[in-house]
Amino acid sequence: MNYAHLIGVGAAVPKNVLTNADLEKMVDTDSEWIETRAGIKERHKSDDDEWVSDLAIEASKKAIEHSGMDPEDIDLIICATVTGDTTMPSIASMIQYYTGAKNAGAFDLGAACPGFLYGLNTANAYIKADLAKNILVIGAETTTKVVDYTDRGTCILFGDGAGAVVVSASEEDGGIIQSYTGGDGSLGNLLYLPGMRQRVPVSLEKDPIPLYVKMAGNEVYKYAVKSMVDSAKKVLKDSGYTPDDVKYLIPHQANIRIIEATAKRSGFPMDKVLVNIDRYGNTSSATIPLALNEAVKDGRIGKGDLLLGVSFGSGFSWGAVLFRWN
Ligand SMILES: CC(C)(COP(=O)(O)OP(=O)(O)OC[C@H]1O[C@@H](n2cnc3c(N)ncnc32)[C@H](O)[C@@H]1OP(=O)(O)O)[C@@H](O)C(=O)NCCC(=O)NCCS
Repeated sequence: MNYAHLIGVGAAVPKNVLTNADLEKMVDTDSEWIETRAGIKERHKSDDDEWVSDLAIEASKKAIEHSGMDPEDIDLIICATVTGDTTMPSIASMIQYYTGAKNAGAFDLGAACPGFLYGLNTANAYIKADLAKNILVIGAETTTKVVDYTDRGTCILFGDGAGAVVVSASEEDGGIIQSYTGGDGSLGNLLYLPGMRQRVPVSLEKDPIPLYVKMAGNEVYKYAVKSMVDSAKKVLKDSGYTPDDVKYLIPHQANIRIIEATAKRSGFPMDKVLVNIDRYGNTSSATIPLALNEAVKDGRIGKGDLLLGVSFGSGFSWGAVLFRWN
């Protein structure tokens, strides 16, 4: 029996930082409102010539180095992104080339914010089925390129970043223990970004085609908490573990109030919850690997620690993964 162990992690963010004070000069908002309502102080914003593939490649190189693995031993690359700089080739293919992982198959995965957890779930399935041994899973976004900086309801929330992990097959018990993915496609009109073919919900056909993320923030908020709480509880119940067994809950970083409500209703005190939204904002599929990277590198997470990642996003899609580090 193969187990999917997470053995290396890396992350990358753009150099440029966009503070709440900067946003005050761009749109009708104020720093205190953003901090109180969303828990965000600043976020990283890519330059015009800085792309999601750049961040994904940097994070991937760091994860491979951290794992101690030779890039040529990687046999699959899964990049979760909805803001790829090209539709084809995939961002995963660019990562394959620039990391030297020349023996790897590569594809992108589009599941919005929970994309990284969908990627871990997919990697686990490949390893369990003996279809791959060493898999790079990345969550990477340059969401600031697709938000409307005249829409204060969305532009204050998002930031750019990438995080990557190496998932490796081992016969030793551990790694990914339980996972769940779910969704409700009927809620797609609450949070969407038109693609290249610019299809928009019928109700908007007469309006100019939006090129940016559109969101009904209040509605999203309600579903976010419910879907993350349900996902966390399901994975714990199915695995037989309780919040007491888990070292850290790693929730999608969308809004501090969503994080706090999810933690409370799932049975986690806030000192067992990883939070970095204050410095990064919502980086979509990158939030969970960014938080994991920080906590592994600063020693809060060590070998054998039980962790629970939980996320939701456009689709709607949601999911949770329970795993031991390393
Ligand atoms: C977007 C969000 C921060 C708004 O916070 P909220 O507390 O729900 O605020 P509301 O939308 O009820 O708006 C309250 C007031 O603040 C105003 N407001 C909205 N954005 C503002 C901003 N950036 N600055 C100042 N005021 C703002 C509204 O216009 C409204 O004013 P009104 O009462 O005069 O009409 C919150 O709904 C949210 O985080 N939703 C989830 C979004 C999300 O997670 N999306 C990503 C999913 S992966």
